Amino acid sequence: MRAATDLAAEPAEGAAQAAPVPAAPRTVKVWDIVVRVFHWSLVAAFATAFISGDDAERIHVLAGYTVLGLIALRLVWGVVGTKHARFASFVVGPQRLGAYLRDMGRGRAPRHLGHNPAGAAMIVTLLAMLLATGGTGWLAYQGGPTAHALEEVHEFLANATLALVAAHILGVIVSSLLHRENLVRSMFTGRKRAEDGVD
Ligand code: HEM
Ligand code: HEM
Repeated sequence: MRAATDLAAEPAEGAAQAAPVPAAPRTVKVWDIVVRVFHWSLVAAFATAFISGDDAERIHVLAGYTVLGLIALRLVWGVVGTKHARFASFVVGPQRLGAYLRDMGRGRAPRHLGHNPAGAAMIVTLLAMLLATGGTGWLAYQGGPTAHALEEVHEFLANATLALVAAHILGVIVSSLLHRENLVRSMFTGRKRAEDGVD
């Protein structure tokens, strides 16, 4: 007579021939459609505005206004959007940011399902710099005696933002390698690995 445990271990009838299916890693939805469309539209509009800054004024102004419009939308979504889109879920104070940066320096920064504190600080800075760049561009565009000085400030801010974007992309690459996950793909699919990690 067989023990009850043996019976329990037996596969269900009909399932015996089924090929073993490797379990796909469980993923969860993190970035909603608004965040993803916002991100890649922002990349396109920023690149267009940057490249057309020198000439092609109509294209430049249109792309610049698009950047400003996208940011306005993101600011609203940061308050009313889904969990990981809300600023309250990822923006942290200087103390938690400092602690995270120290952990990063020691190579043991915890994984975050949403934006990590360093990424969050970069995002807030990028949004502010993009607003300042677009704002000064708009002011310069109005003409008047200060237009030339404003153009200079505008150009400086645009270049500083470009440098931040380079650091942002570097941060994404480092974070992806550290936690062995493709963050760029997540910004397209909206999904991330489910197990472990801090919210
Ligand atoms: C091709 C270049 C870029 C790549 C591969 C990239 C990748 C990413 C990724 C993977 C995230 C999510 C980070 C995370 O998991 O926490 C992110 C977020 C973000 N990136 Fe980029 N990025 C690029 C260019 C840019 C540019 C040019 C800007 C702005 C001018 C920008 C602004 C942002 C912002 C604002 C967020 C926060 C998204 C949100 O919560 O709405 N990125 N980026
Ligand atoms: C936020 C996105 C923007 C970026 C990244 C950006 C970038 C630039 C850059 C790099 C230049 C300098 C080009 C050069 O002289 O080498 C420039 C010039 C300029 N931008 Fe923008 N810009 C943005 C938004 C705007 C907006 C919204 C406006 C107006 C509504 C605007 C108006 C101007 C004007 C009037 C100039 C001077 C053009 C000239 O020198 O003839 N920009 N921009």
